[in-house]
Amino acid sequence: MTGTETPEPMKDVLTLEEASQLFQVSTKTFLKMLREENVPARKVGREWRFSRTALLNWVAQGNSRDYAAVEDEGKAYFSKVAPVYDEMRKGSYDGALREMVVDAFPPAPGSQVADLGTGTGYLAKHLARFAEKVTAVDLSTAMLEVAGYELNQAGLDNVALLEGDAHDLPLADASQDQVFANLLLHHLLEPSLAIKEMFRVLKPGGRVVISDAQAHHHQWLKQEKFDVWLGFDAAEIRQWLEAAGFGEVQVSALNCHCRTANKAGQTVEIPMFLATGIKPAP
Ligand SMILES: C[S@@+](CC[C@H](N)C(=O)[O-])C[C@H]1O[C@@H](n2cnc3c(N)ncnc32)[C@H](O)[C@@H]1O
Repeated sequence: MTGTETPEPMKDVLTLEEASQLFQVSTKTFLKMLREENVPARKVGREWRFSRTALLNWVAQGNSRDYAAVEDEGKAYFSKVAPVYDEMRKGSYDGALREMVVDAFPPAPGSQVADLGTGTGYLAKHLARFAEKVTAVDLSTAMLEVAGYELNQAGLDNVALLEGDAHDLPLADASQDQVFANLLLHHLLEPSLAIKEMFRVLKPGGRVVISDAQAHHHQWLKQEKFDVWLGFDAAEIRQWLEAAGFGEVQVSALNCHCRTANKAGQTVEIPMFLATGIKPAP
């Protein structure tokens, strides 16, 4: 690096190797600390992740669980709002979004499709009209309970509800023809790991369809709605999809906004994007 270059911003989420380097110990010694001491850490999928801030707080104050808390708080939030989530959604994004996303890439008759972060089954209900079987996955039992009730009311019996983490999907390799995820990614600690999981569970030739918020600056969404990411840049999403192995990647703006209000009464409309890619045949 020359004297005129701007230094890279420090990463907050660290891998095992990076956390070991921060403590200037080998990964073996760091793993020993992890087993024997209360190091703030969590597993994301199959890999350890650490927050630089949480590690430094832990060293300074003795004990910090900041990193694990991010996801626990998100889970608690969705458990709390599950009974009223459909009402909240009506003011936020309506039926048009579901139709735009599913109708852009409708599942073929006889296909196996997954809806990740299904919530109350918003996409799953529409997908079930096309696919042979929909597997709807969510981290929150409370959201899945509402989804189950509504699917039952709608007489849709081809949707299987599965509790699970998008970072470590409870789905077999090469089992799905299409994988959808609407407004899930910005709640994840590591969207790139979830995208690798989407790739793993797709059959060769299968398609991923992700819809989410475009990058924005509404910081309060982290505190008030437990968002982890302030939306995404098209380039970032494209890079994650290509790094996972997807081909024919397309990322485009959706003619749709996600509307949300903060406690101070300010309403914002966040533009959305649609991203897709194909798992190449070997
Ligand atoms: C904003 S809601 C979107 C729900 C639904 N896709 C929709 O369009 O209405 C996000 C959902 O993702 C779920 N979620 C958050 N983190 C998750 C994770 N790591 N794995 C699976 N689901 C997760 C939440 O429980 C919640 O139901």
